[in-house]
Amino acid sequence: MTHRGTLIPGDGIGPEITSETLKVLEATGVHFEWDEQPAGVTALEQTGSLIPEATLASIRERGTALKGPLMTPVGTGFRSVNVALRKEFQLYANMRPAYTIVPDGRFQDVDIVMVRENLEGLYSGVEHFIPIDGDPRAVAVSEAILTRHGAERIIRFAFEYAVENNRRKVTMVHKANILKMVGGLFLEVGRKVAEDFDGRVECEDMIVDNAAMQLVLRPEQFDVIVTTNLFGDILSDEISGLVGGLGVTPGANIGDAVGIFEAVHGSAPDIAGQGIANPSAQMLAAAMMLDHLTEHDAARRLREAIRLSIVEDRVRTRDLGGTATTAAFGDAVAARLA
Ligand code: NAI
Repeated sequence: MTHRGTLIPGDGIGPEITSETLKVLEATGVHFEWDEQPAGVTALEQTGSLIPEATLASIRERGTALKGPLMTPVGTGFRSVNVALRKEFQLYANMRPAYTIVPDGRFQDVDIVMVRENLEGLYSGVEHFIPIDGDPRAVAVSEAILTRHGAERIIRFAFEYAVENNRRKVTMVHKANILKMVGGLFLEVGRKVAEDFDGRVECEDMIVDNAAMQLVLRPEQFDVIVTTNLFGDILSDEISGLVGGLGVTPGANIGDAVGIFEAVHGSAPDIAGQGIANPSAQMLAAAMMLDHLTEHDAARRLREAIRLSIVEDRVRTRDLGGTATTAAFGDAVAARLA
């Protein structure tokens, strides 16, 4: 079967890591027919728009996109393209799996899937200033908005993911002791959803500050974590740090009709064009895409090939302490898949 997807190479190191990712996807034997579309600064230069309508139409029609990092120009007038994509396609779940690959890192047994609510919470965009005594910006207000529907769908997503992937536990992370309404509703809804999975998945809840500490003390105690937008944003970067940094952490943005798969890192302008970026995160994002398309065997083989290339063949890019180029790493993974 041939899968149809939208390919967005993106900005900075995006095209370099994406071409190596296509190389290893081909080596899995799974067929793709890609519609390549621009976004980000590359698109702004070509079309005058950060996300051209043709790119949106392609994603809408195909439902699956593999995306490189996009640079959002600094300054007023430009919304983050990534936030705009989430809103446009109602990508309510941001998933970031992180597990130990490099054996000489600080933690050996990390295997955590962070499920972050991607559309609501403090990132709802409801903000204003209150003027006092002639100071137009005397008070700043950013509202955290959580709907019962939004809480239920993200928590249910986490539990269903846990069941389908033989995960043992879901930890709901919140701040219900202080944020009585947003935190309280999240927890109330979560406990109700957990009842439907009783006996299949263990459930616990943890206050966010304790979770941040427990993650660096004993990360192996966590399995699947589900939390609101801001906490998920912060904790998922902390979790990336536990397994060797941005070069090895993928992410997926999932909605009911569309899935967009990407590395967690940005366009790395400091090393763009030098052929030294680590393509692992983008390749692992492609593995998540394969799972999403129910190509589970290819996904498993791709992850294993990446692990073997790093651990056994010791082909490592500079961020992992090696000297391999982006292309040499792609060749190593493709050879492991052959
Ligand atoms: P960044 O993630 O691009 O870079 C941070 C540091 O990590 C840099 O030193 C970079 O060289 C290194 N790095 C990142 N990916 C790497 C890889 N694959 N291999 C080796 N080293 C790697 O973050 P930064 O510099 O804050 O952002 C640069 C641009 O990327 C900004 O315009 C930002 O808006 C955008 N960005 C886009 C994202 C996306 O499209 N999902 C996510 C994060 C940032």
